[in-house]
Amino acid sequence: MSRNFKTLDDIGDVTGKRVLVREDLNVPMADGAVTDDTRLRAAVSTITELADRGAIVLILAHFGRPKVPSPEHSTAQITRPLSDVLGRAVRYVDWEGAAESVATLQPGDIGLLENTRFFGGEEKNDPAVVERFAALGDLYVNDAFSAAHRAHASTEGLAHRLPAFAGRQMEAELDALDKALGNPEHPVAAVVGGAKVSTKLDVLRHLVARVDHLIIGGGMANTFLAARGVDVGKSLCEHDLTATAEAILDAADAANCTVHLPYDVMVATEFAAHPASLRTANVHEVAADEMILDIGPAATEALADVLKTCRTLVWNGPLGAFETPPFDAATVALARTAAALTREGSLVSVAGGGDTVAALNQAGVAADMTFVSTAGGAFLEWMEGKALPGVAALAR
Ligand code: 3PG
Repeated sequence: MSRNFKTLDDIGDVTGKRVLVREDLNVPMADGAVTDDTRLRAAVSTITELADRGAIVLILAHFGRPKVPSPEHSTAQITRPLSDVLGRAVRYVDWEGAAESVATLQPGDIGLLENTRFFGGEEKNDPAVVERFAALGDLYVNDAFSAAHRAHASTEGLAHRLPAFAGRQMEAELDALDKALGNPEHPVAAVVGGAKVSTKLDVLRHLVARVDHLIIGGGMANTFLAARGVDVGKSLCEHDLTATAEAILDAADAANCTVHLPYDVMVATEFAAHPASLRTANVHEVAADEMILDIGPAATEALADVLKTCRTLVWNGPLGAFETPPFDAATVALARTAAALTREGSLVSVAGGGDTVAALNQAGVAADMTFVSTAGGAFLEWMEGKALPGVAALAR
């Protein structure tokens, strides 16, 4: 595969070199413990490879969105969990006296620098902050795809200042995304779900010109149904966006993209787990006091048949109100179909976005997909067709 970025295969002899590795260690924490260590595990391959190759590994990461430096935003609290996941010692390096501390590290050692956002200039990509980081390292590796939509000193500026390479996680992510939308095998299906059309307008506009099948689910499907004249009752619906939805449907028609909206749905008069009023309805028979909370079984089966004809799938967003049972049924069923087709080798499946990963985990199939991105905002911007500054800066 020809790529326009360098990887750890191109980095040469790193013995004794100080390698600044940008990771995304922005993990959720509760009561001092990491509640989901996916991002820590994703960072392992790059860190261990560089350490094993004799580099002095210096990890740069942000944590939260601090206005000013504060203990609750310190990366010190991630040192232990990261060390546990790596199975190796990790030294926390404060910004105060960082150069002296780094000078004591030996080849193969791993240091975790304090939160990059403790410098106000980090998020402004301030050259002075870029210099401050660059002074600590000889080489730069960006392994944080999920922060690549930010043009910050540690995600973008440094790539112009030091020899720059993609880490293993970044490399895998870019390869998977290329297979899914850059140079995919057709037919391509996209599943786009979630509550609101307004947050995914650019995604939908970008996709209709690139995919053969666009499957719309979640609350946003209601806006499209309303645009097609369906009375969606009390359902979540952005009525002010029906004209926009219509324009997207027209653009899809013009591009030969088939848009799939549900024709049967799960409805209830109240939004609760297993409500007594739950029933399956044709979309044209939703009562004024009912709301659509998931795609129905017939539509789910039809969508599974669509996936069986496809070679590539890109998935962002759940099909129903999946946190509340039984409104996870369609998402779980379609995710299982996608996973089975992927296992058989007939489908390349790439999924991303916070809710999507949670839904795939709930369906127990995250490991069966070709690639599951840990990125939230960056995955969405990529699906919008935007150039991500952190990725663009790695271009040869
Ligand atoms: C994320 O959690 O999506 C990334 O770490 C980016 O964080 P940010 O939205 O605070 O820039």
